Amino acid sequence: MATTQQSQPRNIVIIGGGIIGSTTAYFLSHHENFDKERDNITLIEATEIAGGASGKAGGLLALWAYPRCIVPLSFRLHAELAEKHNGSERWGYRALHCGQIEANGQLNSQTTKPPSSVSLQKRSANATALLRAANVPEDLDWISPESIKAYESMGDPETTAQVHPYQFTTSMASLAEEKGVKIVYGMAKQIRQQDNAVVGVTYTPNSKDSSSDVSLELNADTVILTAGPWTRTIYPNAPIEALRAHSVVITPSRPVSAYALFTAIDLPSSSSKNSKRREIVTPEIYARPNNSVYACGEGDTLVPLPSSTTDVEVDLARCQDIVEQVGSVSRELREGEVVARQACYLPNVSGRGGGPLVGETGVKGLLMGAGHTCWGIQNAPGTGKVLSELVWEGRVRSAQVGSLDPRKFM
Ligand SMILES: Cc1cc2nc3c(=O)[nH]c(=O)nc-3n(C[C@H](O)[C@H](O)[C@H](O)COP(=O)(O)OP(=O)(O)OC[C@H]3O[C@@H](n4cnc5c(N)ncnc54)[C@H](O)[C@@H]3O)c2cc1C
Ligand SMILES: *[C@@H]1O[C@H](CO)[C@@H](O)[C@H](O)[C@H]1NC(C)=O
Ligand SMILES: *[C@@H]1O[C@H](CO)[C@@H](O)[C@H](O)[C@H]1NC(C)=O
Ligand SMILES: *[C@@H]1O[C@H](CO)[C@@H](O)[C@H](O)[C@H]1NC(C)=O
Ligand SMILES: *[C@@H]1O[C@H](CO)[C@@H](O)[C@H](O)[C@H]1NC(C)=O
Ligand SMILES: *[C@@H]1O[C@H](CO)[C@@H](O)[C@H](O)[C@H]1NC(C)=O
Repeated sequence: MATTQQSQPRNIVIIGGGIIGSTTAYFLSHHENFDKERDNITLIEATEIAGGASGKAGGLLALWAYPRCIVPLSFRLHAELAEKHNGSERWGYRALHCGQIEANGQLNSQTTKPPSSVSLQKRSANATALLRAANVPEDLDWISPESIKAYESMGDPETTAQVHPYQFTTSMASLAEEKGVKIVYGMAKQIRQQDNAVVGVTYTPNSKDSSSDVSLELNADTVILTAGPWTRTIYPNAPIEALRAHSVVITPSRPVSAYALFTAIDLPSSSSKNSKRREIVTPEIYARPNNSVYACGEGDTLVPLPSSTTDVEVDLARCQDIVEQVGSVSRELREGEVVARQACYLPNVSGRGGGPLVGETGVKGLLMGAGHTCWGIQNAPGTGKVLSELVWEGRVRSAQVGSLDPRKFM
């Protein structure tokens, strides 16, 4: 297995410390051809590790995700990483159920207490019948029986799992650091080239006391661009757009069972609470270990991508909409405590093909792992693995990723 012809000292720079860059750093530094006495691997991050979508995503992993060419590898690597590094403790890795629910929501103002004349026994008999009729699993007991119209399973613990994406990403970065990866904080400005081959990266270091625009250089024979939605700011040809999405984290009023739920909730329109208009909203709700529930809403294109993760605008009204939507179908969430209201940008591949773009570009030594849309958490280990093979062995052997070749997209 050992590819011993690798003996030239290598200078590798990864741009972007989201989940893709951090996981790539992990696999590069855990590859048998890496020699930390001889080779340099530097990860350059503009703000903080997992400061963008990688720290604010849901964290669902699924064998039924896409693209097919990388999902099975990545799903398996998630399980292996969790096994090897205590992921269930360290980043909340666990298998879980996933389903789609259809429900009628009730907004706070309309929530009426059950009439006191109805005995609890009767109510629960009725509720059970309703739940059975709607196909709802017995342990999914934190969605109100009165609201649920239908349940359809999308995945079970064999095919569906989850991680806490912030904990996973920062763990990958630390584990890479332990193996010799150097993490540098600064904004990469330019990938320097000579004769159509990379020779280095110019960056502005972050430092609290520097008012000037200092530029520093890192030499490199290999540059891996993993800047997520910011990929275009350094590589304008990449067809990657940015889409903002809001999310919240709620401590429910009591612990809830392990389900990831895609929803379609019929609600009075939030823009006209007094009118009779209704709308269908589709928040995703992910129960997490340690008595926590994550929920996210739909994307919007109202505010263009800011220059860095620290400048992302959070629209609190949109967070409140998510809180009300999920509270409209669950007492545990309605009576819970909202502990985070946040927003981030996911990288969306525009034009034909869904991406992500993984592999070599037209420039020698310039690789890319970007544009993972809504499955970047699921597909990060597979991406890092195939990029590490490309760097250290000159070819990918763990999956067939030709369809993701960046040269096909640009
Ligand atoms: C609401 C929401 C829910 C999601 N849920 C899931 C889910 O359940 N499962 C799933 O698989 N996926 C999910 N995703 C998708 C997932 O979050 C993304 O695909 C993934 O995080 C993208 O990772 P990334 O590393 O490419 O980008 P990012 O996380 O954006 O990381 C890019 C990093 O690059 C840095 N950077 C940018 N420019 C520069 C520069 N010039 N120099 C240095 N550093 C730079 C940034 O600071 C940032 O840290 C979700 C996304 C959203 C928005
Ligand atoms: C690695 O970095 C060190 C310190 O910057 C430098 O002296 C060395 O030449 C680099 N190695 C390679 C292979 O360029
Ligand atoms: C994993 O975590 C458990 C519980 O905290 C601990 O008992 C065990 O020693 C840990 N294992 C490793 C390999 O760190
Ligand atoms: C859950 O809480 C326990 C106890 O506080 C802690 O040890 C563990 O790391 C937490 N797990 C996650 C995934 O946050
Ligand atoms: C169940 O609810 C329906 C509709 O509210 C009601 O008509 C019916 O009597 C209830 N049945 C029981 C057993 O409470
Ligand atoms: C992503 O881009 C594609 C192609 O441009 C577009 O059709 C799609 O609506 C976008 N997705 C989102 C969620 O905006």
